[in-house]
Amino acid sequence: MNISVFGLGYVGAVTAACLAQKGHLIIGVDLHAAKVAAFNQGISPIVEPDLDALLKSGSESGQITATQDAAEAVAQSDASIICVGTPSLPSGKLNLDFVHKVTAQIVEAIKESKKTHILLYRSTMLPGSTRAIVTDMLADLVASGQVRVYYCPEFLREGTAVRDFHEPSLVVIGTHDGTAPVDAAVCEIMGGQPSILAWEGAEMIKYSCNYFHALKVGFANEIGRLCKHLGEDGTRVMDVLCADTRLNISRYYMKPGNPFGGSCLPKDVSALKSFARQENLSLPLLENTAATNAAHQDLFVSLIEGKAKRRIGFLGLAFKANTDDLRGSPMVAAAETLIGRGHELSIYDPHINLSRLIGANEQQIQARMPHLAQLLKQDARDVIQSSEVIVVSQKCVPFETLKELARPDQVVIDVQGWRELSTLSWQYEGICW
Ligand SMILES: NC(=O)c1ccc[n+]([C@@H]2O[C@H](COP(=O)([O-])OP(=O)(O)OC[C@H]3O[C@@H](n4cnc5c(N)ncnc54)[C@H](O)[C@@H]3O)[C@@H](O)[C@H]2O)c1
Repeated sequence: MNISVFGLGYVGAVTAACLAQKGHLIIGVDLHAAKVAAFNQGISPIVEPDLDALLKSGSESGQITATQDAAEAVAQSDASIICVGTPSLPSGKLNLDFVHKVTAQIVEAIKESKKTHILLYRSTMLPGSTRAIVTDMLADLVASGQVRVYYCPEFLREGTAVRDFHEPSLVVIGTHDGTAPVDAAVCEIMGGQPSILAWEGAEMIKYSCNYFHALKVGFANEIGRLCKHLGEDGTRVMDVLCADTRLNISRYYMKPGNPFGGSCLPKDVSALKSFARQENLSLPLLENTAATNAAHQDLFVSLIEGKAKRRIGFLGLAFKANTDDLRGSPMVAAAETLIGRGHELSIYDPHINLSRLIGANEQQIQARMPHLAQLLKQDARDVIQSSEVIVVSQKCVPFETLKELARPDQVVIDVQGWRELSTLSWQYEGICW
């Protein structure tokens, strides 16, 4: 293909060189005369391992040229890849001025050329940005089919960017609705096994990844500071933590849904927080972990109350499935709040047998929900039939039973991620989806 690459910085220069290596004809576009001149001489405008050699051979073979003239580049291309900067304003807000300006130039050039064109945004943009750009600047070209727009976030890392291009850690293609067929040319440009989402989902993945990386660095550093304070080796502690690839470096605990609960996480988070305070250590990430869980619990209760119904049914009460442990259960806390605010509650949990609750588990129930016996039903049907809102925190009832009993006047709130519930005749809402 003939491809224009807009923005010859870290992303654009690598993209241009690697696509030329794959056999495409590349026209690089940048505002800076010096970058364009360097590109035309096969000299990399940035320091990046392996890039010099690729640009040199691309330039010598005539596969890579560069220009400051957007119209000239678009006129000679089938696709444009937008890699311009998206810096922060002093307020921290995202500045999309470069993306808007480059889009305006490309739109003008496409209208002039009258040819069909693929626009592929790779600059990092907040969710909603691509749709806003399409609505404000590209609506007629998209409606007529002259332009097809993709948002494909870039995940390469400086220092290993060329390798990352050829072996991407993640390939994400955003289309207007996440289901429309993707141009074969876009799949070829992107390589790998793409995940296809709507523009907003693709934009969100980029921010989720970077936020996760930032969180990991912050977490490792806070554990490190705490370790050093205790005379421990923070690197060794984190090395051992990372050795657990079942619970720690894994998908486990990475599923939006229930607030965390149980007998360990709330207690241990609170103990470490109070220890850090006592030792005068500033560990904002660790200290605020309980706060984020509390915010999630508040949202969970508001979601139930927002349905403005009195009769609420819980399927699952323990903090997770296949246990009778009620300590720190988000469902117990939600039940307590809802009862206090005048709701009628009924609960089914196959593992809760009041006569068998002993020790701390029993004390917790006596203190927080002394009337639990009246609320607990032996048969899930009683809960489902009598409730206007059903909150599902565990898969503790056979799907067939739910299918048989679900009614259109009922609302089901799914905190478990049991997506099949959305196919039944009740109104379905997920806590994070
Ligand atoms: N640097 C990375 O490692 C990395 C990784 C993934 C994603 N990203 C994202 O990719 C985007 C680009 O990042 P970068 O580090 O390559 O930026 P950069 O600042 O190095 O390069 C951006 C280039 O765009 C050019 N430019 C601005 N307006 C232009 C226009 N109208 N026409 C042509 N060129 C124009 C600038 O002159 C500059 O050379 C950003 O959104 C960034 O967040 C960067």
